[in-house]
Amino acid sequence: MKKFVKILLGLVALIVIVIVVLLSYVKFGLPKVGDPPDLQVNITPERLERGEYLSWHVTGCIDCHTLRNPSLYSMPIMPGREGAGGIRFSPELGFPGVMYPSNITPAGLGDWTDGEIFQAITAGVDNEGNALFPIMPYHDYGKMDKEDIYSIIAYIRTLEPIESEIPERELDFPLNLIVNMMPEEPEFTKMPDPSDQVAYGEYLANAGGCIHCHSTQDEKGMLIPGMLMAGGNEFILPTGGVIRTSNLTSDDETGVGKWTEEAFLLRFRIYADSSMVLPEIREGDLNTVMPWSLYGKITEEDLRAIYRYLETVKPISNKVEKFTAP
Ligand code: HEC
Ligand code: HEC
Repeated sequence: MKKFVKILLGLVALIVIVIVVLLSYVKFGLPKVGDPPDLQVNITPERLERGEYLSWHVTGCIDCHTLRNPSLYSMPIMPGREGAGGIRFSPELGFPGVMYPSNITPAGLGDWTDGEIFQAITAGVDNEGNALFPIMPYHDYGKMDKEDIYSIIAYIRTLEPIESEIPERELDFPLNLIVNMMPEEPEFTKMPDPSDQVAYGEYLANAGGCIHCHSTQDEKGMLIPGMLMAGGNEFILPTGGVIRTSNLTSDDETGVGKWTEEAFLLRFRIYADSSMVLPEIREGDLNTVMPWSLYGKITEEDLRAIYRYLETVKPISNKVEKFTAP
């Protein structure tokens, strides 16, 4: 009997040691994505133009890294705070902890190398090797063309430096450990030629977060296989109520299958007019997290390509209730 107890105790000790080693590995040994590349991004007029277009109107950098005004429709960014970060993503809004997009103006990234910024955007690791939470879609950015990332870096280097205080992130347990397993080596692609509208549209839909937000996710935020673009992801609005992403598959009944290309373009264009006054939002009104006023300026060529790509997405019947009032 004594022998049995000894063996049992031995086994328990072994299991505890294995768990401690594993946890320490996850906490201190990860993320493993290698050193940031040795990189010097030359700032050229072409890169600045491309980088400005992408950061503002496609990849959402400025949208997410700027405080937004929840009392106007589509929560436009606060002028004068471009890139200074600070939105509070918190449990009240459905997030697993509290986190803040950082200051990406030169006041925040001044002492980062280009390689470190490149690695943060595409692999999800900051300049001290800490894992970033994938609320910033770095897995998607890691599938872009490197040249586009260089353009974005060139552009954000030229933002007006704006000081801001960004509080520390506080993730809930066990996510504060699991987050270290999330960064991944990027798998870059070449941007398809715009004349290949479907492939180019898919490239933009990845870079623009359309696939990320509009493909149905499970409660852990993982895309459910077979539900590409089928919608239904929930966002709690700061002014109350829940908004859900639309089904953008080619389904005639519940998706955008019946939309003409012109109707699709128009849905974006109405917000491109800078004289347009965005409706005011009171507590409990319908609002959206889709940054229409920024996407409104996606070029016509690019919107047409996205539409052509959506036409090829497998139709899935998924009726989404757009809004539930509080
Ligand atoms: C959906 C929101 C969102 C989008 C879009 C987004 N980010 Fe972020 N970003 C964040 C959040 C949140 C963090 C902080 C994550 C954390 O602390 O774990 C972050 C962190 C960063 C960091 C690390 C900075 C630091 O001080 O640690 C950089 C650099 C960055 N983002 C640049 C960009 C660029 C460039 C783009 C566009 C290509 C972009 N982000 C798009 C939300 C976003
Ligand atoms: C942050 C999440 C998010 C991102 C990123 C996003 N959307 Fe949306 N989108 C939504 C939500 C939520 C709605 C539903 C509310 C509304 O109509 O604004 C929506 C609605 C739409 C609609 C209207 C559909 C309808 O039935 O009226 C279209 C079209 C659309 N999105 C296209 C896109 C495209 C194209 C992209 C990429 C360029 C994109 N979205 C990126 C969240 C997002």
